[in-house]
Amino acid sequence: MYDLAIIGGGPGGYVAAERAGAAGLKVVLFEKKSLGGVCLNEGCIPTKTLLYSAKVYNYAVNGDHYGVYVEKPSFKYNEFVERKDKVVRKLVGGIKAAMKGFKVEVVNADALITGRGADGITIKAADTGYVAKNLLICTGSEAAVPPFPGLKEAGDVIVTNREILALKEQPKEIVVIGGGVIGMEFAAFYSTLGTKVTVVEMLPKILGPLDDEISAMLQNIYAKRGINFCLRCKVTGIEGNTVVYEDPDGKVCRVSGDRILVSVGRRANFNGIGLENIGVELALNPAGRPCGIKVDEHMRTNVPNVYAAGDVTGFSMLAHTASREGEVAVNNILGKKDVMRYNAIPGVVYTNPEVAGVGVTEEEAKKKGLDYKVVKLPMAYSGRFVAENEGGEGICKLIVGAKYHEVLGVHMLGNPCSEILQSMCIAIEQEMTVEQLKEVVFPHPTVSEIIKETAFSLK
Ligand code: NAI
Repeated sequence: MYDLAIIGGGPGGYVAAERAGAAGLKVVLFEKKSLGGVCLNEGCIPTKTLLYSAKVYNYAVNGDHYGVYVEKPSFKYNEFVERKDKVVRKLVGGIKAAMKGFKVEVVNADALITGRGADGITIKAADTGYVAKNLLICTGSEAAVPPFPGLKEAGDVIVTNREILALKEQPKEIVVIGGGVIGMEFAAFYSTLGTKVTVVEMLPKILGPLDDEISAMLQNIYAKRGINFCLRCKVTGIEGNTVVYEDPDGKVCRVSGDRILVSVGRRANFNGIGLENIGVELALNPAGRPCGIKVDEHMRTNVPNVYAAGDVTGFSMLAHTASREGEVAVNNILGKKDVMRYNAIPGVVYTNPEVAGVGVTEEEAKKKGLDYKVVKLPMAYSGRFVAENEGGEGICKLIVGAKYHEVLGVHMLGNPCSEILQSMCIAIEQEMTVEQLKEVVFPHPTVSEIIKETAFSLK
């Protein structure tokens, strides 16, 4: 008998297991693949490792901007991939050790929820039965692959975020369907290495939910570097290694690549885990189709003692959201009051330059009818940014309440904004005002000072 059974060992499940184990609960964690989930094995970590290799190569290529001359910079793609695999192995090993440290029993098998009895929820995995007082479902998501005509016949030309990471050779030409986060990170990676990249996106902009101005700046930077962007273009089919799409005028166009990356969103994994055996209710998308497990602000499902966290809820599909949701679930199981809030969830796109944002964008503020002000400054107002980003573009944008000047959103383009955004997550969480921000001492010289500079430019 366990206090808590967790299905899925990604950033939702393993973080919850750590917290529950640390609190003294008897925990069993089921993972059918590898600990770390999509984030560690086929998402965040492997992509960031590859992107870092591309960044180092880019430094070598552009060394002359800083007075450094590298003769014929080159790279070995297979070594990028080998290093990526090594990093993943190391971190998976770290999670295994942590599970041991927190006395979490890890079962490497496919788990099926079989029912609810007087003792708790029953689960079957590898022909063994388990009973737990509480259940946390963290089964994540997988790439959504629309049934484009001709897609199946195209075979291994078609890749998702998963297969693309396993490629041993750099594609010479790649077509990216969907200019969202996954699409843009791979487009950035391959274009840095000299692959010819085309992004086919049905919306009028890349990175849909991002601040419009920043999204346009990033697109412009990568267009100058050679990425071909086809916006307002809807894919209608695949013909071998060719993507067929309709341009904004309805004209049928074709673009080919030796690989076609499908990155048009993700689908929550809620089928095949036995939810029906205990009657777990699903959430519906605006079209009325099931899109994830329905949860409340405590991450509780409609079934007592059954919780869900992470991508399987179909809501905010980010690793850091999943971990926090897992913590909220565990705290509620422990009888502590804890509520999930989504107003300060940071988002980062690891292109070069990076994009990072938290809170509402200008467009959202407008849509919501908020009374707000926008202040913005070029990143070049930061001395450190100028010192380290020769010819680099960037912007820092604050969205603040018009009356009280509380920080509602912060959106940045320019390295290393992913590392300095965190302070603004705290500012939003703590409902800080611009006046309070002005009193904070920021380390000098750092790029983070741009936030304070921007705050001071509020009239
Ligand atoms: P996404 O939702 O970010 O972007 C998908 C894009 O595909 C959208 O712009 C959409 O308009 C476009 N699209 C959809 N159907 C299309 C069609 N038929 N033709 C052309 N374009 C089409 O989804 P993505 O990039 O697959 O990412 C999935 C999830 O993974 C997201 O929730 C994201 O937050 C998460 N993720 C986060 C990362 C990060 O935090 N750095 C990195 C990678 C993924």
